[in-house]
Amino acid sequence: MKKIVISKFSAVLVAAAIILMGGMTVSASAETANDNYNLYCVQCHGSAGTGKGINAPFLAVAPRNHTDPKAMGELSDANVALAIKEGGSAVGKSTQMPSWKHSLTDAEIKDIVALLRQKCKCTGAAK
Ligand code: HEC
Repeated sequence: MKKIVISKFSAVLVAAAIILMGGMTVSASAETANDNYNLYCVQCHGSAGTGKGINAPFLAVAPRNHTDPKAMGELSDANVALAIKEGGSAVGKSTQMPSWKHSLTDAEIKDIVALLRQKCKCTGAAK
């Protein structure tokens, strides 16, 4: 009996997820860098961007503090974009920073790099 209740609940969850994902696909082009950051990055980097997301305590490597002008200033825009697109391993960092190339377009990644520059109030290293 209990099992049946749980599976019905799961079916409702799956249906809800499909409906939500459908909505996301339709509005994808209208999403701003902020929306994407809040959707994909906050679990680890935190809503304030300080690297203290809800998932952060469970990672072996601390997520980058995007508001730290020193740490972020040492990274070029190209490095930041590559880390987002291909994941941490592409820039010699932790694989716990995932690759987002299947979720974000190059243009969306470019907008997120600009958003991160606002968060750190810094410009990137030349290279
Ligand atoms: C599953 C957790 C997780 C998520 C989700 C995540 N990151 Fe990260 N991120 C990390 C970790 C861990 C590091 C630190 C890697 C290191 O220092 O070795 C990191 C590092 C970074 C860095 C610094 C890379 C460098 O070269 O030092 C940038 C920029 C970054 N993340 C951007 C993002 C953006 C933008 C998103 C959302 C699209 C995102 N991250 C989502 C875990 C995550």
